[in-house]
Amino acid sequence: MLHDPNRVYVFDTTLRDGEQVPGCQLTTPEKIEIAKELEALGVDVIEAGFPISSPGDFQSVVELSKAVSEPIICALTRANKGDIDSAVAALKYAKRPRIHTGIGSSDMHIKHKFNSTREDILARAVEAVKYAKQFVEDIEFYAEDAGRADVHFLAQMVEAVIAAGATVVNIPDTNGYCLPDQYGSKIKFLKENVKNIDQAIISVHCHNDLGLATANSIAGLQNGARQIEGTINGIGERAGNTSIEEVVMILKTHQALGLHTNINTKNFYELSRMVSSQMRMPVQPNKAIVGSNAFAHSSGIHQDGFLKNRENYEIIRPEDVGFPDASIVLTARSGRHALKFHLERLGFNLSKEELGEVYHRFLTVADSKLDINDQDLLSMMAKQQLA
Ligand code: KIV
Ligand code: ZN
Repeated sequence: MLHDPNRVYVFDTTLRDGEQVPGCQLTTPEKIEIAKELEALGVDVIEAGFPISSPGDFQSVVELSKAVSEPIICALTRANKGDIDSAVAALKYAKRPRIHTGIGSSDMHIKHKFNSTREDILARAVEAVKYAKQFVEDIEFYAEDAGRADVHFLAQMVEAVIAAGATVVNIPDTNGYCLPDQYGSKIKFLKENVKNIDQAIISVHCHNDLGLATANSIAGLQNGARQIEGTINGIGERAGNTSIEEVVMILKTHQALGLHTNINTKNFYELSRMVSSQMRMPVQPNKAIVGSNAFAHSSGIHQDGFLKNRENYEIIRPEDVGFPDASIVLTARSGRHALKFHLERLGFNLSKEELGEVYHRFLTVADSKLDINDQDLLSMMAKQQLA
């Protein structure tokens, strides 16, 4: 499957890990609408749901499988036959089905979630992959809580599931625990020590509990992973998952990494707004790439530099992510250059002295308002001309 060694596959789990967030549940038609946009975005895999979890989720996987043709449609299961049977049935209409099965890999999960032993868990992992492989060729295995797992045991597990038929091995930092160098080293260790690792793609699936999901995902990719799992707007369990838009734009911005995806980055902004409104989950204004302030310049020093050459303060062009445009926001921290820019936009060409006078009036108004809009500027100019 892996032809281009520098191609990074994008696995979207907005409709599964993202949709698990309380209050973010979607109807099947809403999921279909998002899935079609994900297809237009160019994601390689859509995780459509966890079919055994509810009849509604089962039905969503069925309907998404019918509605989407290009991306792989993936269904989540635990490592047991009942879950896998349900996923196989739900994926019946998928043109390119994938089963995502797995089990805990850290001693914490093995002892305190499964009350089991490493040997037993290993056997269950292999059995689940072999069982699923009878129905679907493309099997992704997740080693839950791999971020905290002993790397030698993890390597043993990865080798065994690949031998059993896994085509992708997902190394989740389920609890968002790792530091980037720890997570990167874990992927490197697997790459160097699992003898059949070249028969599978390593996938990174990071959570954001310490705000490191994106950094960890990049560290994983730098060390040999070639699939990244995440969500739009970074929504997901607790503090969320890796934001797909962040990872993709990092790879595009840092060409020296030599990695690329198939993503149409111009679709990010619109899809972000669609996910936010359908899931009733606002995007924080300072969110990287898609937040409303991501391309807004508000302090005088930055505005002056930006107006001289936008690259002084712009490392991504707003149009590259479908953002309407950069904005120069007028607040009490803005300088003359920004005010001049907006007044000229409205048709006022002032001399240096005139601008100085208007600027004084502007600061008085701006101190009493959060930001100044065109209407404020027009009434300020009307008063100025009367004075
Ligand atoms: O975070 C996690 O470990 C998961 C798995 C189910 C893949 O979401
Ligand atoms: Zn997860």
